[in-house]
This record gives sequence, C-alpha cells and structure tokens, in this order.
Amino acid sequence: MHHELLFEPFRIKTVEPIRLTTADERRRLLASAHYNLFLLHADDVVIDLLTDSGTGAMSTDQWGALMTGDESYAGSHSYYAFRDAVRDIFTMHEVIPVHQGRAAEHLLFSNICRAGQLVPNNTHFDTTRANLEAVGVEALDLPDPIGHDTALRHPFKGNMDLNALAELLAREHKRIPFVLLTITNNSAGGQPVSLENVRRIKEIIQPYDKPLYIDAARFAENAYFIKMREPGQAHKTAMEIARELFSMTDGVLMSAKKDGMANIGGFLALRDKDLAEQLRGTLVLTEGFPTYGGLAGRDLAALAVGFYEALDEHYLRYRLRTAEYVAEQLEDRGIPVLEPPGGHGVYVDAARLLPHIPPGHFPGLSLACALYLAGGVRSVEIGSLMFGAHDDQGHFVPAEHELLRLAFPRRVYTQSHFDYVVQVLQRIKDYAELLPGMEMVYEAPRLRHFISHFLPRGNFPEFTPKP
Ligand code: F0G
Repeated sequence: MHHELLFEPFRIKTVEPIRLTTADERRRLLASAHYNLFLLHADDVVIDLLTDSGTGAMSTDQWGALMTGDESYAGSHSYYAFRDAVRDIFTMHEVIPVHQGRAAEHLLFSNICRAGQLVPNNTHFDTTRANLEAVGVEALDLPDPIGHDTALRHPFKGNMDLNALAELLAREHKRIPFVLLTITNNSAGGQPVSLENVRRIKEIIQPYDKPLYIDAARFAENAYFIKMREPGQAHKTAMEIARELFSMTDGVLMSAKKDGMANIGGFLALRDKDLAEQLRGTLVLTEGFPTYGGLAGRDLAALAVGFYEALDEHYLRYRLRTAEYVAEQLEDRGIPVLEPPGGHGVYVDAARLLPHIPPGHFPGLSLACALYLAGGVRSVEIGSLMFGAHDDQGHFVPAEHELLRLAFPRRVYTQSHFDYVVQVLQRIKDYAELLPGMEMVYEAPRLRHFISHFLPRGNFPEFTPKP
C-alpha cells in the first residue's frame, strides 16, 4: 500500500539529549532492576515507550499559558479557563479537578460504591479495576468478542459486548450502580469505541435508570477514529464527535495526562449537581480546594489549552498515522502486532512471537526485557503479568492476550526514532526462539506489575545483528 509521507506537524524548539548505553551496561542495569522495567532509572533508557501518560511534549501555547497560570488558592482564573474548556468539550456543567485519573476513580468509587456491587466496563484499566476492588466492588470486563482474534481487522475493536451487557443487567441490575466505558479501550490495544456502541449502551441501560460514565483518557484519539471509520461521521469535526459522544453520558473521569496533552492532571465532570457537591466535600479532604484539586494553577492553565490541541485534526491525523506506520513496518518484518493498531501505540503479540513461552512465564515481559537489552527501548507488558490472576482453588488464570505495548508519548519522538525501534524488534525476532521465560521471585500484593521482581529462566541471547 502506498501512503503519502506525513511529517510531524510541529517544529522542535527545545531538545533533550538522549543518553546512550551499551549492551553490557544494560545487562547489568536490568539485572539490578530485578528485570522489572518500572524499576529502571529513566536516564538509562534510550527510547521510552513505557507509557503515553504524562510523557508528552507541551506546545509553545501551553508553555505560555504556564507562565500566566494563577496560583491563587481559591478562585484562580486558571481554574475557570480549565472549567470552561471541560464544559465546552465534555458537555458537563460540574467540573472537579484532580491530580490524575486514579484520583477521580478513587473519589467517585469511594463515595458512591458499596462492597458487593458490580461495575461493568468494556475493559477496566488496571488502576480502575484496583480502585473498584479496593472498595469491594467486582470489576467486570465485557469486551466485544471481536477482539479475541488479535490478527482480525475491525474498525471498533474497543466496543462493549452489548448482548453481554443486556444479559448482565437483566440478571444483576440491583448490584450495578453505574456502567463505565473506556475510550479508547487501552487494555484491549488502544482500540476505539463507536458512537453507535455508546448509543446502544445507553438504550440498554435506560430502563434500569443507571448512569453511564466515560473513562475519557484518550477521547480525542477515539473521536478521530470515529471520524475516519464510522459510517456517516466523516463530515463532522473531532470536536463535534466528542461533544456528541459525551452528550449521551452522565459523567466523565479523565486522566488528562493523555489527551489533555499535559504532564499531570485529571478531572471528574458530572451532570448531577448534588453528587458533585458531595464529591467536593471529599475533595477538600483528600486532593485540595475545589478550584485546584491537587494541581498547580499553571497545570490547569496548560490543560485548558491542551484539551483543544488534542482535538486539532492535523495533529490527530499524524498521531494515528504514526501507530499505523510502525505497525506496517513490523508486519512487513513478520512481527505479529494487534490489528488494527490503536491510537496511542502498537501492541506486539508476544504469544504469537514467542509461542515457546507459556503465559505463566510471561512472554510479554520476556519480550520487554529483550527490547531493553537489545536497544535500550522501554515498553510495558499487558498480559498475564498485568491481568493474570489466581482463582479460588489457587490455579493460575492467564490474561486473554499476551501483549507488549509500545506506547507513544505525544509529540516526543520522530519517525527515525520509531525506525530504530522497528530495527531493534527485527533483531529480537531473529533470536525469538532463544528468549527465556520469566519467573516471579517477589510478588507485590497489589498492581503487582509495578514493583514485583523477576529472574529469567535461562540466559538472554546477545542479539548481535545477523548478516
Ligand atoms: N484510565 C485509563 C484508560 C488509563 O489508561 C489510565 C492510565 C488511567 C485511567 C489512570 O490514570 O495514570 O492518570 O491515574 N494509564 C496509564 C497507561 C498509566 O500507561 O496506560 P492516571
């Protein structure tokens, strides 16, 4: 397929040098980080694709806004700019700033959930699940079964399974306080949710009078996918699509470290004024006064600009094309990736690349270690390490997929950085059958992938380039 060359739609004004490391250094550094890439010093990473969260580059307009940020404790004008941007785009009147997405999760769930309840989602992100489970709520994933096959191309693999939702509500509606929907569906590969899916979810839950909340971390990417892929949506702007989507819902939780285009921040936006007042009561106790919620005025100011920049269609086109480009390059080299690529990165299918490593020995982690050893690239496992569990009998239940996520920070890396990553993965593929499985030697009690320790069950190869 021929694609017109699409260049990065920005110039670079400030640069940050990348520290290079040798293969020998990395071997030592990885061992002392217990083969857990979260435990590395970031200075020891060459290309950091660990996450797209809070790692983006801000624009000149955002840096300008930062300088004029108002640090007043109460009533800061930066809060009003932030509030008005959220009202404008997300169509909700009540806007509660928080320091990041999980603070919004904790604030909402700890106030309105009770132990024994059940909350369905297309796929809960790990912190969402953990925050629900922390208050005794069962977090149930209802992804559309179309997502089972990682090789299958479908425009909206992030959708919720509507039949499963209807059945669940008929059976369990008394236990369900609200329905959550994550756009894009991060854990399912950064896959979008269609407007049609949201409309149908709304219809299904209407008779039960349950609110629909959106986890909107990557709402702008989702809106542009709708514009590109959903029949009848191409003539609308990403902004119009976002407004249409949110107007069907009752509340938004957002980690603004993604499509807020800033390094920290989040919010909870609601239609229900009484609930908002109740939550503000907790907010003062835990995050801060309701006009800053744990953020500096300058953070709010940068976000008020960032939400609009995330919806800029030149940026969005480049953003989604980057993931598509990397996926094409990898597939040309026979490296299996989740198809089609998501918005915020590319997910390599470690189960297909490393069939000799069983889920219990974490093929995604082995691949993540290889990527670091071979090229200093940091990525994250999204598989049985992040989502595997033990059932009541103590048997290991693997995750549905064994993926390695290459998450792309916004406006940070250029095409040649991505070409380098592709080259490193190609080298790993040449040695794929030699990659060892991994053993967990210390397991952290919660969100274990962040802090657990591992050892390889054999030696990693040297990854010297083959002729
Ligand atoms: N919801 C989704 C869909 C997320 O992807 C994240 C974070 C959160 C909620 C929590 O937000 O980090 O601001 O507290 N995702 C990051 C990631 C960490 O790497 O995907 P937070």
